[in-house]
Amino acid sequence: MTILITGGAGFIGSHFARLKVKQQEKVVVLDKLTYAGNLENLDEITKDSNKLPYFKFHKGDICNKHLVEKIVKEEDVSVIVNFAADSHVDRSIMNADSFIDTDVKGTYTLLETAKENNVKRFIQISTDEVYGSIASGSFKESDVLYPRNPYSASKAGAEMLANAYWVTHKVPVIIARSCNNYGPNQYPEKLLPLFITNAMEDKELPVYGDGKQIRDWLHVEDNCSAIDFLLENGKPGETYNISAGNECTNIEITNLILNELKKPSSLIKHVKDRVGHDRRYSIDCSKIRSLGWEPNITFEDGIKSTIKWYITNKDWWNKIKTGEFLKYYGKQYEERETKLSSYCLGS
Ligand code: NAD
Ligand code: DAU
Repeated sequence: MTILITGGAGFIGSHFARLKVKQQEKVVVLDKLTYAGNLENLDEITKDSNKLPYFKFHKGDICNKHLVEKIVKEEDVSVIVNFAADSHVDRSIMNADSFIDTDVKGTYTLLETAKENNVKRFIQISTDEVYGSIASGSFKESDVLYPRNPYSASKAGAEMLANAYWVTHKVPVIIARSCNNYGPNQYPEKLLPLFITNAMEDKELPVYGDGKQIRDWLHVEDNCSAIDFLLENGKPGETYNISAGNECTNIEITNLILNELKKPSSLIKHVKDRVGHDRRYSIDCSKIRSLGWEPNITFEDGIKSTIKWYITNKDWWNKIKTGEFLKYYGKQYEERETKLSSYCLGS
């Protein structure tokens, strides 16, 4: 069995690729290497000669039907897990083009290829954001979707297509809707890595609005274990919420980071609120729990170990924070291309 992991050089996808390679399964990663894709996230595999035989990397776009088909056929892919997406809400507010291209059109391309090639499982990685905001209580999988920003709308669009391919073409799709992930290797534009690294550098922490928005935090390894669990135990045509039930306001998590790093609260700067900012996300994950999955990492331990990771891996995030705009044109990009050619199949 070969598993195709799209977006496997990103935050969650790279953790999932590591998990599957550790289980000695054959993994092929397809990733466009956008600003968020980082081959260093896969070092644990590519720098280990015991793991490398289980791994292949293709640089490419999930919207490229010819390439996706070639990979699925040549690698004998039986499972697709689609992590590839443009994933940052603020970017989607500035310009949603690539969100529609990758999240909607790209998912369509993968579903078409899965349909034509008898793929045995298709996990569509979605998000709790598709439900929209909820003042009290928690969303169940059967609730109506009401995405409220271009990113979450693009993810809801992808879900609609995935579900249609199950109903119409019997592509064995499972949809996984998880809450906010945190952990090592998260691109430092998202709340946790941005605030941890800013605090380490004594820079301001830009809290949007009053900071009383609520997010539900899940360690990335717990999310990956849930997705892996669904590969075995999920039912095609079904959707599953994934959460560990760690709801927290943004200002609470900001203070937690500052306390842990022993930095002053004067670093907090309340800035203009995000447009259309969802106030609270909350999902009920009793469906997956009733099948037997449960998270392993407590919020307290997870946050502590995550902060520790950013302390000991300054090189990883510093390169990103100082060189984002050089990546495509500068030296870093050349280096990345050279490194890539040392273990990819070519595309
Ligand atoms: P990320 O931005 O860190 O990684 C996305 C990866 O997809 C990158 O490696 C990027 O290069 C790749 N990619 C983008 N466009 C592509 C394309 N057209 N073709 C091939 N590859 C492409 O994202 P993440 O935070 O790891 O999120 C992964 C998935 O999980 C996304 O689908 C996201 O919607 C979903 N999700 C994320 C969270 C979270 O808290 N981060 C929570 C719920 C769901
Ligand atoms: O809920 C799941 C979603 O979580 C995923 O689908 C998305 O891919 C992922 O990016 C994340 O979306 P959020 O918008 O919740 O995450 P973000 O880290 O951007 O913001 C978390 C909260 O913190 C949100 O209320 C906005 C706020 N925030 C964020 C940033 C970057 C700030 O107050 N200041 C900031 O600088």
